[in-house]
Amino acid sequence: MRNFVAKRIQSVPPSGIRRFFDIAATMKDVISLGIGEPDFVTPTPILRAGIHSLRLGDTHYTSNSGTMELRQAVSIQMKHLYDVSYDPEEEILITVGASEALHLALSAILDPGDEVIVPEPCFVAYTPEVVFADGIPVTVPTYVKNDFQVTGEEIERAVTPRTKAILIGYPNNPTGAVMSRENLERVGEVAKKNDLLIISDELYSRLVYHREHVCVPSIPGLRERTILVNGFSKGYAMTGWRLGYVAAPKELMAAMRKIHQYTIMSAPTVAQAAGLDAVLHGEYYVREMLAEYDRRRELLIRGLNSLGLDCFEPQGAFYAFPSVAKTGMDDEQFSEALLREEQVAVVPGSAFGPSGKGFVRLCYATAYEKIEQALDHMKRFMQRHG
Ligand SMILES: Cc1ncc(COP(=O)(O)O)c(C=O)c1O
Repeated sequence: MRNFVAKRIQSVPPSGIRRFFDIAATMKDVISLGIGEPDFVTPTPILRAGIHSLRLGDTHYTSNSGTMELRQAVSIQMKHLYDVSYDPEEEILITVGASEALHLALSAILDPGDEVIVPEPCFVAYTPEVVFADGIPVTVPTYVKNDFQVTGEEIERAVTPRTKAILIGYPNNPTGAVMSRENLERVGEVAKKNDLLIISDELYSRLVYHREHVCVPSIPGLRERTILVNGFSKGYAMTGWRLGYVAAPKELMAAMRKIHQYTIMSAPTVAQAAGLDAVLHGEYYVREMLAEYDRRRELLIRGLNSLGLDCFEPQGAFYAFPSVAKTGMDDEQFSEALLREEQVAVVPGSAFGPSGKGFVRLCYATAYEKIEQALDHMKRFMQRHG
């Protein structure tokens, strides 16, 4: 029998993150700094809003674009936080996580063979999603010497006549990097000069430490050429609800809505009810969780650097991305040895692209005491291997 699986799907390897979770799942008492999601349960009032909507019998589809209340609330929040305006009627669509928003953005704009420039290390889904949408990912490495920010020049060097878009995700998973306004403006200049679209995944926008988040479409001249992806998973600790959104000028939105209409219908109704409460009343909890992540961030970064695992200071998200060069191991060897010898799970940097080689990702969205324990175990490990 022939292989029925499309070649472009065959060409994408399974996620490099999974292998480590599979090993970890077979072991007892693993301290996991692996999974990239908040350890917090969704704040109680948000949970209750979801439960309340179910009790009211709100179990039907919503409008394809999502409930008008939620779109309006998201629109007001974006204006308030980032001074960027989107019409809730025609320019905002509620999605099944930021994941669906990304998928819609790429599927809506790519013709076969179109190239998308993707700075990496980056979220594991970026390059596969470009391939699934029939495009060609053109990756651009970023470097610790630049705090893992991509420069306009690096992007410009990757532009060809087939380039259609630049896909950036800051605050960044896995590095924790945040782009400076100047660097974003330069990337914007390259987009304008070469008539490119920017897909900006700002899922960690609420998780920045002691600095502002610059929302890409708020930069003058970029709104009309940006698809903004965001969601509820990280800032509101709502990964399991599967709720996100996408904002874009109306012609692009119409194309994305068409795909969403036929493939999804509408994002989960219960999640939209909870999401509305999150936007309207969740600010206190966002700030509370952010303060706790910041405490853990300081503990982890200080700890890693004192062990000789040099780590640049991440300014966003909830990841540390230290170099393991001192051990003489590569990132895969390091992660496997650390898991087997000290039961600490981290993710090899190369899972996020070749330029992540030599680094590992540690997620500090886990209890303070667990991070302390992990550092103790890593200290023993470094005494043997440092
Ligand atoms: C940068 C980034 N974008 C998108 C996603 C997908 O998020 P969601 O749960 O909203 O689908 C993730 C999840 O880890 C992520 O790290």
